[in-house]
Amino acid sequence: MEQAGRLIDRWFRRIDGQLYIGDVPIQNLAGAYGTPLFVYDRATAEKKWEQLRGTLPARFSISYSVKANPNPAILRIFLEKGSGLEIASAGEFHQALAAGCPPQKILFAGPGKTETELEYVLAEDVGEIHAESLREIDRINLISQRLGRRARVAVRINPGTDAEGGAMRMGGKPAPFGIDEEQLEEAVGRILSYPSLEFRGIHLFTGTQILDSTVLLRQYAKGIELAHRAATASGRPLNRIDFGGGLGVPYFAHEKELDIASVKQDLRKLVEVVDGNPEFQGTEFLVEPGRFLIAESGIYVVTSLYSIGCTGPECRTAPGRGRRSHRRVPIGSICAIRESTWFPKSSRPAGGPGEWRGTFLNSAPRRSVRHLA
Ligand SMILES: Cc1ncc(COP(=O)(O)O)c(C=O)c1O
Repeated sequence: MEQAGRLIDRWFRRIDGQLYIGDVPIQNLAGAYGTPLFVYDRATAEKKWEQLRGTLPARFSISYSVKANPNPAILRIFLEKGSGLEIASAGEFHQALAAGCPPQKILFAGPGKTETELEYVLAEDVGEIHAESLREIDRINLISQRLGRRARVAVRINPGTDAEGGAMRMGGKPAPFGIDEEQLEEAVGRILSYPSLEFRGIHLFTGTQILDSTVLLRQYAKGIELAHRAATASGRPLNRIDFGGGLGVPYFAHEKELDIASVKQDLRKLVEVVDGNPEFQGTEFLVEPGRFLIAESGIYVVTSLYSIGCTGPECRTAPGRGRRSHRRVPIGSICAIRESTWFPKSSRPAGGPGEWRGTFLNSAPRRSVRHLA
């Protein structure tokens, strides 16, 4: 609770005890939309973008990870800033297109991509597909051949233990996230052997919610080492190295904010080392953060009912926990979205509910949202 208060005070204003989102008192939003309610603030999302952009050397580009929040109004904030998008399902691809993202600026990563999903994104000329296993390389090849397409493919590598870290580890151990480091050369060779595939580069992402800058930098350094091997295997510089997401935000009082100044300094040094190296000539560096960009701009608003009379600090109860009827109200200049843009049944591509792994699916009420700011 204490930490929630700190985060709120960092990003939002209180005037006479009243919390404001932009220029709008929270009471007005609660009155207009009812509670429980999620509110997202465009200005905060933009500040987070600028903070990250200012941290990364110019050589880096950013692709917002759609799974963090796939609302098209939010996607548009980052698209307007020059972001690409990283997706993990056909549902997220659909959201990205609905937000106006050109398919070529979309990366499709994540294990367990279905045939229907691969067909859908390939038919729409998705920017890049990140293969998570040798078997998936074969599948992408077969589907590309059938569609008469040439898929742009990168390999996601599950590195050895030296790049592990973060609250949830996705690498450095047997995991469905990527091809084992030992198989890197085999994976590159296999992609190169298929005329229907174009080899683009590598992707690694070993953990999420990383708050220790040294852990993050180890991931980047490992990325450089793996890129060197992949470039040697393919006989040319890579088009791109995707260093993943994972930049954390402190949720609990004991957690310290990621030291972004150290990240900036260390990345600068890392880039200096590779800048003059012909092996990395023309290679784009990319990160694909989710929570770092959007988590702190969202507020969950509830109406407190009553004190439940427990011992110790006062505990109050509020309705709505666990329910799926929460309203979502983006404000600032991102409002005026219609909730019906969230997966109306009629606009789903074929494939059935099993294809839909996006976060929201049918849960949002069909409700228009008008400008409040
Ligand atoms: C492939 C991939 N990219 C990006 C992300 C976003 O991670 P984060 O929100 O930690 O930046 C995830 C999260 O699981 C992921 O699996």
